Amino acid sequence: MTIRFDGQVALVTGAGAGLGRAYALDLAARGAKVVVNDLGGDPHGQGENRAAAQKVVDEIKAAGGEGVPNFDSVSSYDGGFNMVKTAIDTYGRLDVVICNAGILRDVAFHNMSEEDWDKVFAVHLKGSFTVLRAAWPVFRQQSYGRVMLTTSSSGIWGQFGQANYGAAKTGMLGLMNVLKQEGVKYNTMVNTVAPVAGTRLTASVMPQEMVDKLKPEFVSPAVVYMVSNECSTSGYVIEAGAGNFSRASMVKGPGAQPGMAANLDAEWVQANWDRICSLEGAVPMWRAGQTLAAFQAANAKQA
Ligand SMILES: NC(=O)c1ccc[n+]([C@@H]2O[C@H](COP(=O)([O-])OP(=O)(O)OC[C@H]3O[C@@H](n4cnc5c(N)ncnc54)[C@H](O)[C@@H]3O)[C@@H](O)[C@H]2O)c1
Repeated sequence: MTIRFDGQVALVTGAGAGLGRAYALDLAARGAKVVVNDLGGDPHGQGENRAAAQKVVDEIKAAGGEGVPNFDSVSSYDGGFNMVKTAIDTYGRLDVVICNAGILRDVAFHNMSEEDWDKVFAVHLKGSFTVLRAAWPVFRQQSYGRVMLTTSSSGIWGQFGQANYGAAKTGMLGLMNVLKQEGVKYNTMVNTVAPVAGTRLTASVMPQEMVDKLKPEFVSPAVVYMVSNECSTSGYVIEAGAGNFSRASMVKGPGAQPGMAANLDAEWVQANWDRICSLEGAVPMWRAGQTLAAFQAANAKQA
C-alpha cells in the first residue's frame, strides 16, 4: 500500500456501520489512528447505543490498528467539539475528518412534517458544521487538513420522497464550495463523495441481493484517496459505488451577453432562450465572484 496515513489521525462520523465503518477500517489498515464516532441510533435517528462505535474500534484493534470510540451526536455543537477533543487528547493531532453520519426520514413532500425536516438537517448539514467548526482551527494551526463531506445522488440530482434529505445533501455542496476556498491558505482540501452502497439505509429501497453485492468497500478507495496527502484537488464531487467512479459538477454555460444598452425585456429572453440555456462549452466555477467578473468583462468588450 503506497497511500499511507502513518502518524496521521482521522475522525470518521457515523463509523459504527455501513460506509463509515469501511472507511475507518481502510484508514486504520493504512496506518491512521482513527476516532470512530457513532451515536448508534436507528436509521431514522431514534435511540442510541454505544456498541456500534465500540465494535468497530475492536475490529480495528484486532487487525493491529489503533482506534478510539466516540459516542456523541454530530447534531450537537458540543458533540462535534468532543470528537475533535477526543482526537487531540488521545493522539495529539487531527488530519482527516470524514463527515459521514446519516439518517433518512423519507416521505412525499405533502406529508413531510417539521420534525422530518429538522431531524434530517440536524444530522447531515448541522452535523457536518459542528464537527468541521471544531476541526477547522486545528487544520489552520497545523497547516494541514483533509475533509470529506457526504452528499448523495439525491442531493445532486434529486429523488422523489427525499425533499428533506436531498436539500440537506445539496447543502453539503454549498458548504464544500466555501470551505474549499477558506482552506486553500492552510493546505486543507475539501471534497465530497456521493456513494452508492448496500447498507441498512439502502436496505429499504434495494433488494437484499443488491444490498449484499454493493459493498461499501467499493466506495472506500475514492474516499481514502481523496483524504490522503496524495490528493491535491479540492472542491470535487465524486460519485462512487459498485465499481464506478465519476466526477459530478455544477457548470455554467457561455450564455448570451446583449449588454446593458440593449432593449431588454421578457420577450428578448424568450427569443434567446436556447442560447441562454445552452450548456455547450460549459465550465465549472471556483468562486461566486467569477460571475460578476464575467459580466463586467462582457460589458467592457462591448463598450
Ligand atoms: N448507502 C448509500 O447508498 C448512500 C447513498 C448516498 C448517501 N449515503 C450517505 O452515506 C452516509 C453513510 O450512510 P450508510 O449508508 O453507511 O448508512 P448507515 O445507517 O449504515 O450508517 C450511518 C451511521 O451514522 C450513524 N449516525 C446517525 N446519526 C448520527 C448522529 N447524530 N451522530 C453520530 N452518528 C450518527 C448511525 O448510527 C450509523 O451507524 C450517510 O450520510 C448517507 O446519507 C449513503
